[in-house]
This record gives sequence, C-alpha cells and structure tokens, in this order.
Amino acid sequence: MQNWNDDPFAGLSGNLTSETNELTLDNNQAQGAIVETATQTHPEETAPPETHIGITGLEKIEIGARRIQVDDKKIINCRADLNQLVPFKYDWAWQKYLDGCANHWMPQEINMTADIALWKSKDGLTEDERMIIKRNLGFFSTADSLVANNLVLAVYRHITNPECRQYLLRQSFEEAVHTHAYQYVIESLGMDDGEIFNMYRELPAVARKAEWALPFTQHLSNPNFQTGTDEHDQMLLRELIAFYVIFEGIFFYVGFTQILSMGRRNKMTGTAEQFQYILRDESMHMNFGIDVINQIKIENPHLWTETFKENIINIIHEAVDIEIQYAYDTMPRGILGLNAPMFKEYLHFIANRRCSQIGLPEQYSGAQNPFPWMSEVLDLKKEKNFFETRVTEYQTGGALSWD
Ligand SMILES: [Fe+2]
Ligand SMILES: [Fe+2]
Repeated sequence: MQNWNDDPFAGLSGNLTSETNELTLDNNQAQGAIVETATQTHPEETAPPETHIGITGLEKIEIGARRIQVDDKKIINCRADLNQLVPFKYDWAWQKYLDGCANHWMPQEINMTADIALWKSKDGLTEDERMIIKRNLGFFSTADSLVANNLVLAVYRHITNPECRQYLLRQSFEEAVHTHAYQYVIESLGMDDGEIFNMYRELPAVARKAEWALPFTQHLSNPNFQTGTDEHDQMLLRELIAFYVIFEGIFFYVGFTQILSMGRRNKMTGTAEQFQYILRDESMHMNFGIDVINQIKIENPHLWTETFKENIINIIHEAVDIEIQYAYDTMPRGILGLNAPMFKEYLHFIANRRCSQIGLPEQYSGAQNPFPWMSEVLDLKKEKNFFETRVTEYQTGGALSWD
C-alpha cells in the first residue's frame, strides 16, 4: 500500500476496498477465529482470519494469530490489530509525532509582564486593539476545546492506524495546552473570563464559526456511527476536511495574523508569543490532517467523486466567506497597517493553497499573499532562541537522576 506522498503511479493495490463492508463484529465468529488461528503451525504464512476485526483496538486478543505485516495496515477500516505500533507503515505520521514532542512548550514559560502593564494602562491600547484581543481570545479559548473534543470523541475511533493514533494523542494534548494558554492569558490580564469564554454563545462574530463546525463532529461522535460504507467513509473524509483543512487551516488565520501583527509592533508581546507557539503546532496539525486525507484518498479512490469534490468546494467557499466576515467583525476599522479587505485577499490566497494541498483546483485566481511575513513566522525553526534554549531545557530538565 502506498503512502499519500509516494509516487502516485507506483504499485497501487487493486483491492483497496474489498474489506470495507465487513465491519460488524460477530462474537461467535470471532470466538471461532481464536480457536482456529491458535492451531496454526506457521502463523506468518497464513492470511488474517476474516473475522479478525480491529477497528477499535479493544477487540479480543487472538492468541497465536498471524503476525501483523505492514501491508495489513490501512488508515481507515483496518482489520489488523491496532495495538501494535510497529511495523510502521505511515512514516509521516510517526515523524510528526516525534516533531510534535520535540516542540513541547508550556504557557507559563512565557513572560506576560509587559502585556499585563500594557493591558492595564489607560492609553496603551486603542479600543479597536482591545476588541481584537478579546474577540480572538473569545474565539480560540473555546475553539481549541472544540477541536480536542472532535479528536477524542469523533476522529480517533475511525482512524484505524496506530502511528496516526499516536499523533492524534499528541495533538490532543497540544490542544489542551492551547486552551491552557488562552486561559493563562485571560487570567494574567485580569479579564472577565465569563465574558470571554461565553463569546462563542453570545457574540455572533465568534459564534458563527463554532456553529458552522459543530455539525461536522456530530456524525462521527455518534456511538452508532461506523465507517465501512461509501457513504460513511465520505462522511469521515468530509468531516476531516472540515476540521483539519477549514477549521484549523482557514478559521484560525485571521486571528493569528491579527495577534502576531501586534507582537511585531511591540504590543502584547507575551500574548503574541503564546500565539506564535500555538501557530507552529497548528501548522503541524493541519499538515497531519492533510496527510491523512490524502492517504485515505490513495487507499479509497472511489470516495473522491466529482460530486463529492463539488460538495467540498462549496463548503470551502462558504467557510471562506464566514472567515472574511470574522475579519470585518473583529476589525471594522483598519489598525496596525491592516484592514479587512487585506484579510479577504489573504483568505483567498490561503484557500487556494488548501485546495491544492488536497488535490482540488484553486478557487480564487490570482490571489496574492498580503502578509508574506506570516510564512516566516510559521517556520519557527528560524527563531533560534526558541530551539536552542527551550528544547534543550526540556531534554535536560526532564531527565531523571539516580544520584
Ligand atoms: Fe489548537
Ligand atoms: Fe490544532
């Protein structure tokens, strides 16, 4: 089986979907399989039993069953044992897990002193600047919880590959760190936390985005939902695109750009630094999601129909319009050298990129990036202070000593 980033014409398997309709666990059959496979004298030479269903990793252990081969692994609807991390099949997923761990950070490490003084000063910030800070904290403080809940309660169960699940666990923790970071900023600045955390239910500019996303997690989180039919597999694919490509890949970008612009102008530098680390994590989350989506497409090309693509393109158009509205709502007047029309152009540019990343045609011809500095911020490896101090501290500070 190929990885999504392999040569697309090299060795595509012909029976990618042959097992997708056999996902209902039959206890009697499973019991029979245990007895049958335990008597094999050369277990590695036999095919996996038809009743060996591993979609959760919590099924019965088959004593003496044939060992997992790398080609048994599939990103969805896998029927091989999900408790065995190796042999690795998707190196990109394992590498992102390692990279995510190497990027570990915590909100308390960032100095908020200058932000507290600025926030409390009478004339340090304009009303428009204060509104941008509050609305973005309002959006992100609940958005990251929404993403974490989607991962743990909806996505995790349906991604049937151990190395991808390893990354999902890492990502889930990072989402917890992000929610912590927003809470830490809100508390440090002495804001009314009830006002901020309730914005996604009280302020239309913030509520609209959360409301848009919620239906995309509700199917998958239904305990009765299972993949294995074309309709349900497309649902999973659609909802992965909604969260990874749109929610984390488009809906975060107006807010990130606004806050990071403040940092670039020496305002709210602690808050901007928190957002900078979050943006680095989010960039990896999105890239992981895109890898997963492309891998599902490789293994299940029949899902990527013209009708399905049209549906996804319509969803992307709708989401871009919602995020443009968010730019106008958070920035009714231009500040910091930014204005809402610039964000419209930026969102068109980003949406084009997201489309091409998942194999769709660009939708906004000629869109340019008005914020080229955002690309540099994304590549935090250039920020040598972070990498040379923070990571080293973790590696030494976290080590146990037996002295
Ligand atoms: Fe996050
Ligand atoms: Fe994320």
